[in-house]
Amino acid sequence: MKNIPAVMIIFGGSGDLAHRKLYPALFNLYEQGIIHDHFAVIGTARRPWSHEYLQSQVREAVHETHDEVNEADLEEFSHHFYYQSHDVTNVEHYFTLKELAADLDQKYGAKGNRLFYMAMAPRFFGTIATHINDQHLTGDGFNRIVVEKPFGRSLATATELNQQITASFSEDQIFRIDHYLGKEMVQNIMPLRFTNPLLAAVWNKAHIQNIQVTLAERLGVEARGGYYETSGALRDMVQNHIFQIVTLLAMPTPSDITAKAIHQAKQELLDSLHIPTAEDVAKHFVRGQYAASDDTFAYKEEPNVDPNSTTETYAAGEMKFGAGPLQGVPIYFRTGKQFKEKMSRIDVVFKHEPNPYGQTHANKLTIEIDPESQIRLLLNGKTIEGDAIRQEKFCFGLTEAEAAVVPDGYERLLRDVFLNNSINFTHWGELKRYWEFIDAVEEAWQAENETGHPVIEQYAPYRMGAKSADKIFESPAGHWIYG
Ligand code: BG6
Repeated sequence: MKNIPAVMIIFGGSGDLAHRKLYPALFNLYEQGIIHDHFAVIGTARRPWSHEYLQSQVREAVHETHDEVNEADLEEFSHHFYYQSHDVTNVEHYFTLKELAADLDQKYGAKGNRLFYMAMAPRFFGTIATHINDQHLTGDGFNRIVVEKPFGRSLATATELNQQITASFSEDQIFRIDHYLGKEMVQNIMPLRFTNPLLAAVWNKAHIQNIQVTLAERLGVEARGGYYETSGALRDMVQNHIFQIVTLLAMPTPSDITAKAIHQAKQELLDSLHIPTAEDVAKHFVRGQYAASDDTFAYKEEPNVDPNSTTETYAAGEMKFGAGPLQGVPIYFRTGKQFKEKMSRIDVVFKHEPNPYGQTHANKLTIEIDPESQIRLLLNGKTIEGDAIRQEKFCFGLTEAEAAVVPDGYERLLRDVFLNNSINFTHWGELKRYWEFIDAVEEAWQAENETGHPVIEQYAPYRMGAKSADKIFESPAGHWIYG
């Protein structure tokens, strides 16, 4: 039982993220005793809710995500929630918020600790951060801030936002959240790499042909057309989730597993990230948009989407590093909406190497992140009938019982925030490099848009995305393993 004292202020307390993820996650932390008697949560948003209404929403959110709930605990838990109707641009509201936080601090014995959570539309992040600073909302205990994605839209805007936040918070108080870093199999990449000498020995250019990261989704942009138009697949999925996965795959071995050592190893790798030229982008990057089918709309026909939009709903490309164990190994990625199925996976393709059987079946290692949590290694052996070679899969997975108790990513990450563990959060130095890369690709695409003939493949929905992504490989024999 930790019983960490804190007043948490959630900007966006009436929103979807708070409802679906944060309230259920907080309840689980309450049940585990990470937070218990000394915490209070202030939900703020524009809507004119009352404390009681927020509390009923919190209970509803927990019921929606839990099969069984201890009702007495839930009732008690929900009474730690308070609501303040808030216009993020109104100075007065910050004073009221500050007072409410101080009162709750007294009431619950929160020791001056403050935890701010930016869970609303990203265009408000900077304004909120500035007001937190100007109206001195921080407490005299610990102060932490959790920032949702997207953290900026380019290096320039991310830098500006970072400056607004660092006016009140130091780097070690800023938790830039990436929910992929809370996923079971993403958290398994480091142990897999660093505790298996068997793998560590071949984790290099001599043995690995390429690595492929696929984050595919069955859904389209749904009701998020407006946001998506300002983003696109590259900013929405590559700048954060794919980059974090790739960083974990390619970073050098950290000296220990503290946040400091891990972020140092990540930074060392990212300093050597190859920033693509316009020529690289033309050869090794692809963008696409989903087209219409008999009963679904094309991206360009979705609500709040420009009918002439050049925003990509699919992106594929290549990343390379000049340092770390995978120095020079091509790492390919693809991500997109309206794929044939939901599938988040990593395929490590080992090289074909000569053997006395004359048959060369390369080894493959697949880390499936979603929908299953599983690691599969493809190994060679003999067929029963003779000397021919066959391949079999070795699986590292979760039993049904284990899968049932895997915490949601948000629960894990929120727990880390309370426990002040920043291992699974993005540091500024990393983010900066991600944006440098994304900016380079966006610039090349923008230049292409300006020619009036951008190459944006219109791909058939619910298949494998843009076909031109089959041609981004450096080697003529290169192909996607999943497909
Ligand atoms: C979010 C993106 O970060 O990740 C969404 O904004 C995307 O567009 C989502 O749908 C995918 O997350 P997951 O966990 O469902 O793979």
